Amino acid sequence: MCGITGYTGLNQAGPILLEGLRRLEYRGYDSAGIAIQSERKADADGSESAGSSIKMLKATGKVSHLVEKFEAEPDFKGVCGIGHTRWATHGVPSDTNAHPHLSADGKFAVVHNGIIENFAEIREELQKYGIEFKSETDTEVIVQLLAYNYKGNFKKALMKTIARLTGSYAIGVISDEHPGTIFAAKQASPLIIGIGIGENYFASDITALVSNTKNVIDLDDGEVAEITPDEVKVFDHTGKEIEKPIRHINWDIASAEKSGYDHFMLKEIMEQPQALKATIEPRIKDEEIIFEELNIDMKKFNRVHITACGSAYHAGCVGRGIIESLCKIPVEAEVASELRYRDPVMDEKTLVIVISQSGETADTIAAMKECKYKGATVLAIVNVVGSSIAKLADYCLYTWAGPEIAVATTKGYTTQVVLLAMFAVWAAGELKTISHGAYTTMVKDIMRLPERAQRALDLNSRVKKMADKYNDNQSLFFIGRNMDYAVALEGSLKLKEISYLHSEAYAAGELKHGTIALIEPGRLVVALCCYEKLLDKTISNIQQVKARGARVLAVAHEGNRSIFAEADDVLSVPVTDPLLVPVIEIIPLQLFAYYVALKNGCDIDKPKNLAKSVTVE
Ligand code: AGP
Repeated sequence: MCGITGYTGLNQAGPILLEGLRRLEYRGYDSAGIAIQSERKADADGSESAGSSIKMLKATGKVSHLVEKFEAEPDFKGVCGIGHTRWATHGVPSDTNAHPHLSADGKFAVVHNGIIENFAEIREELQKYGIEFKSETDTEVIVQLLAYNYKGNFKKALMKTIARLTGSYAIGVISDEHPGTIFAAKQASPLIIGIGIGENYFASDITALVSNTKNVIDLDDGEVAEITPDEVKVFDHTGKEIEKPIRHINWDIASAEKSGYDHFMLKEIMEQPQALKATIEPRIKDEEIIFEELNIDMKKFNRVHITACGSAYHAGCVGRGIIESLCKIPVEAEVASELRYRDPVMDEKTLVIVISQSGETADTIAAMKECKYKGATVLAIVNVVGSSIAKLADYCLYTWAGPEIAVATTKGYTTQVVLLAMFAVWAAGELKTISHGAYTTMVKDIMRLPERAQRALDLNSRVKKMADKYNDNQSLFFIGRNMDYAVALEGSLKLKEISYLHSEAYAAGELKHGTIALIEPGRLVVALCCYEKLLDKTISNIQQVKARGARVLAVAHEGNRSIFAEADDVLSVPVTDPLLVPVIEIIPLQLFAYYVALKNGCDIDKPKNLAKSVTVE
């Protein structure tokens, strides 16, 4: 949940680290800090000054606070350093708990993303040796243990240290005695190394590095890297040097910039037509869906289980409906945090689909491991290339949506839904549960989604007006049936996570079983009415809430005139196949959440208490 970065080269490390942290801030933003190996000052007699060369700056709050501190410290200079932006797990957000953490002798500094599960035991042991701890964090044990293990060989001490750690970590370490050298290590948290010319980097992800280099090495679990300005050496868990391939990133810096938009979220909402194209077009040839990555015999499976968290789970709820409807195979969808502890019944005849934008979500990783252990085949739908979930799965389909920076997912979700729909159509073709005509019609409808998404985006100014009209509601409901209900779940989450308004999604038919007691005059109900097979039923539910004084904002298909007589306001979206409705219907709801949050003065890209990639349980 934190972002880490490091630089070693000939340039001043401070500004490079701060720029990297600014780009990584979406991963956590309650405090930040940097440590550098400063240039040692010579004493009058020409000898080096005593004391450590490592200098640190930390600030509670956003990276901008750290930048202010840095600007007030003109002497904070050095060409090698590490940085961190935090999402607190152990200890409150404070300067003391902010990373980097320093060993008691001041000779080592560490930044860490992950959780050290056995930190209490290690801390107790080190305290017995008289080592004093300053922070409440789990991270501090890494650096104290490293200093304790150090007998002149940095790499040996680090390998010995990480061998004691259980849990997850991506770490970067500098030492007072090894100018220009950074060691990095990884276990179950993301870490990449950026390759430059006469300078090298590491970071939690490529967004921190893409303005400096597009050549990266993906560090794998258990590996350690020694990074100097001219060289990167990678070692396996035994300490043996290994060859690692260099991966070239093919997206440019604009992908990690707001490009004129006020927020990444709005930029990413607007990018959806292109993102959908990137997901769809390379996989369709002559009206046929081709998954070169999939060498699966679908006939082997007698059921499908979908698991994910948050919005990815909501995409899974849509996927459940599409796969079941087209493939005639039982499908379940379940949040990963429940599945992982439920001892689910599954075997080698089960196909598990895990969905994750980041590919690093801890609960999703744990659930997929549990499913693999039970013999299931795992297919991952992931956006971030080379992420843990992509690597752990038996098969992986990338959404190719490009980097998503805003904490609230938008293009991540719609590309997941469309990829699930493509998988369902492909699988139905393999299983022969769909006629050739129906297959071709679905493929054509999928190909039209980018253009329909663009038309849904044309509602932008009308949605803004709706947000102005309805943003006074402190508590609201999203209702729908079938596909519309799946969209209600996502629309409600979008609104609550960025605007902090209370909202609930209900299967429209469930309202009368209790929740309708909360409907009172003026309460806003957002009614999703695009799943036309059940439109009459949803309209009855609209009438029930209207009869109790609710105001209704409906999302319906263009050309649906009847809804105007029922709802106070209507947002009309392009007509699409009932199974593909969510891709289009969610767009006005994303915009609605955005404009309500804007109106309420919320920090849209970095909502309170959240982080983009949830790598802790
Ligand atoms: C969505 O807006 C949220 N930020 C969150 O629910 C997210 O979808 C969830 O944490 C799963 O993340 P993942 O797709 O990276 O696994």
